[in-house]
Amino acid sequence: HELGVVAVGFSGGQCKPGVEAAPVALIASGLLEQLRDDLDYDVHYDNMVHNYTDIMPTSDSEYRNMKKPRAVSAVTQRLSEQAYEHAKQGKFVLTLGGDHSIAIGTISGIAKAIRERLEGRELAVIWVDAHADINTPEISQSGNIHGMPVAFLTGLAKEENKDIFGWLEKEHLINVSKLVYIGLRDVDREEKKLLREHSIRAFSMHDIDRHGIGRVVEMALAHIGNDTPIHLSFDVDALDPQWAPSTGTPVRGGLTLREGDFIAECVHQTGNLVGMDLVEVNPSLETSGASDTIRTGCSLVRSALGDSLL
Ligand code: ARG
Ligand code: MN
Ligand code: MN
Ligand code: MN
Repeated sequence: HELGVVAVGFSGGQCKPGVEAAPVALIASGLLEQLRDDLDYDVHYDNMVHNYTDIMPTSDSEYRNMKKPRAVSAVTQRLSEQAYEHAKQGKFVLTLGGDHSIAIGTISGIAKAIRERLEGRELAVIWVDAHADINTPEISQSGNIHGMPVAFLTGLAKEENKDIFGWLEKEHLINVSKLVYIGLRDVDREEKKLLREHSIRAFSMHDIDRHGIGRVVEMALAHIGNDTPIHLSFDVDALDPQWAPSTGTPVRGGLTLREGDFIAECVHQTGNLVGMDLVEVNPSLETSGASDTIRTGCSLVRSALGDSLL
């Protein structure tokens, strides 16, 4: 099977430097060789970590409370086209981030390609995260766009200005009914309102404690349905800091490494997975055990691509 890899060294969706170095660290630890040699993927990688310096705006003042709106918009627009090209050719799209704002690019591009390839079929998204990342610009407390991608991807946040996400068209968007969260435990008050108002299916850590990860994944997949292409957007901060300490917004009380891998394995087993983002790994925030978070990230990707299943 064919795998398109996009390495995105971008950190402009939040304020801590370092996430842009994650793709190099993940790849240097041998991830792509493992996918090629152990899992038999035909890996298409342009041997480039994209930082899109050529399209960076020269000035980028705040707009509607968003920090670096033009930079994030330009990067995600370009990434959307890259993801679209891979997905249009039927390749699995693996994107190594970068902060979570980049999901605006990956998901919009894949959603568009899926509509074209499969007669209007809609892409489902499983968003594994401690956070809901569904703030609209106006309700965001931080102004960081990595807390807003789901709002733009679902059309809950809209903007006409072409340089600030106005390039997002209908065919790029996903349906709130085909979105499922797993791992939530740090959701802003206004975000909770949105989840309720739009009846968005969300499994918090509380739900995982109550039902167990097996049942939660079963319910999440049942919500999506059997015959729907799925994108897995995996924020490494969904895992407990014990397993992924090096991330910009860690929250205690998260998933174990096995629970994270289990989610990825089950999504792989559906046979419907078409893309994955791995985001928010920040090697420069490594405290103790130097490469724990990198190893965790590699494990999650391998699991989503079919490793550890007999
Ligand atoms: N809800 C907070 C915000 O909007 C935190 C978002 C964290 N997002 C992330 N992708 N790590 O700023
Ligand atoms: Mn998060
Ligand atoms: Mn996130
Ligand atoms: Mn396989």
